[in-house]
Amino acid sequence: MDAPISPDVLGTPTGIADPYPAYRAFRGPSPVRYLRLPAGPMTGRTEPLYAWGLLRHADVLAAIRDPETFSSQSTSVFKTMPKMSLLHDDPPHHTRMRRLVSKAFSPQRIASLSEWIGRTANELLDTAGTKGPVELMATYAVPLPMRVIAGMLGVPASDYPSFKLWSEAVIAYVGIPAEERARRTQEMMVYLTQIIAARRAQPAEDLISALVATEVDGASLTDAEIRGFAAVLLIAGNETTTNLIGNMMALLADRPELWQRARENRSLVEPIIEEVLRYESPVQRFPRITTRPVRIGEAEIAAGEVVDIVYGAANRDPAVFEDPDSFRPERPTNNQHLGFGLGTHFCLGAPLARLEARITLNTFLDRFPTLGRGEGPAVRQQAAPVSLGYKSLPLVLGG
Ligand code: HEM
Repeated sequence: MDAPISPDVLGTPTGIADPYPAYRAFRGPSPVRYLRLPAGPMTGRTEPLYAWGLLRHADVLAAIRDPETFSSQSTSVFKTMPKMSLLHDDPPHHTRMRRLVSKAFSPQRIASLSEWIGRTANELLDTAGTKGPVELMATYAVPLPMRVIAGMLGVPASDYPSFKLWSEAVIAYVGIPAEERARRTQEMMVYLTQIIAARRAQPAEDLISALVATEVDGASLTDAEIRGFAAVLLIAGNETTTNLIGNMMALLADRPELWQRARENRSLVEPIIEEVLRYESPVQRFPRITTRPVRIGEAEIAAGEVVDIVYGAANRDPAVFEDPDSFRPERPTNNQHLGFGLGTHFCLGAPLARLEARITLNTFLDRFPTLGRGEGPAVRQQAAPVSLGYKSLPLVLGG
């Protein structure tokens, strides 16, 4: 039995590190109103910001299927967030953008990266040492997606440390003062502007050059649109995949029997990844702004309110997933998870994230007969409400 809690815990470090007790407590009365951002120097707000959290699978589905009522233009409220292409757009502009960038980000293009990503995964593990204790986040889970996105965008490896600082600053609402966040975000935008100008002058074999050259029905992308898209890739493509890898390896480190079975039977690799996306969804929630008054369950929600689509809660809804709080890769319904969203804003990077997770799991299974927890605590990140993941994850790679 969970102790009585307030829904406001969802906006605090405790609720960011482990939101599940609050989801269980408030799925009944969902949608639930909670304090999303307090006023003060961390958030840069003079007034506290309240939001509605949608915790049921059915409510989440209905909202994401109705972008006219639930607008993605949340930067009108979250003013320190840079406007990112697609994520913060609504149709019809979103539809045009998505067609343009999908061309440069096609499944074929992603599949062709497989060999290179596999090499990168092995290089990281070679550098970390063959076997023994590792801190997984710093040695592998952070650098792999970072190298992949940076390589795709065509930006130099020496700039990777800045990317991490920038993406943290954009998504963190706890721990980094608002002015520092704004400064780092501005730095990222200046950096991207310079890269785009360089590729316009001299195209290369990379995604930014492809975006510069992309045309659909005679329309091409403006610098601001390319910058917004590069920013979304740097941020959406990094933090999320890092957390998928970390959450997956922690769950497996606690399940030696599953590790053995997966080593022998690789058809388990995909169901394991899908179940991690459901059970510990790397993207927990994403905001929408209501464009008109709307009633959901017992709640009358006015126009202009923040509504959080709580993917992490929908993915544990007992109405859809039997025994939702247990990790069962072989469950028949795990393909109904909403870990990548659905509909208009369905994750553009899902094929890439799945590819990186598959390569990671197969590479670790190939190289390490056993996997266990290491010394020292595994520490959850507590700064970014959007994400569920580890800051530090000590493991032992055995053989
Ligand atoms: C495990 C990893 C990932 C997870 C769990 C994830 C999750 C999500 C979710 C839930 C959304 C929908 C947001 C909304 O409702 O507004 C989304 C959108 C998006 N994601 Fe991902 N993502 C991941 C990896 C990636 C990667 C690797 C990339 C790119 C390299 C990426 C790029 C995007 C983009 C561009 C959108 C916006 C799509 C649109 O609005 O049309 N994501 N992602």
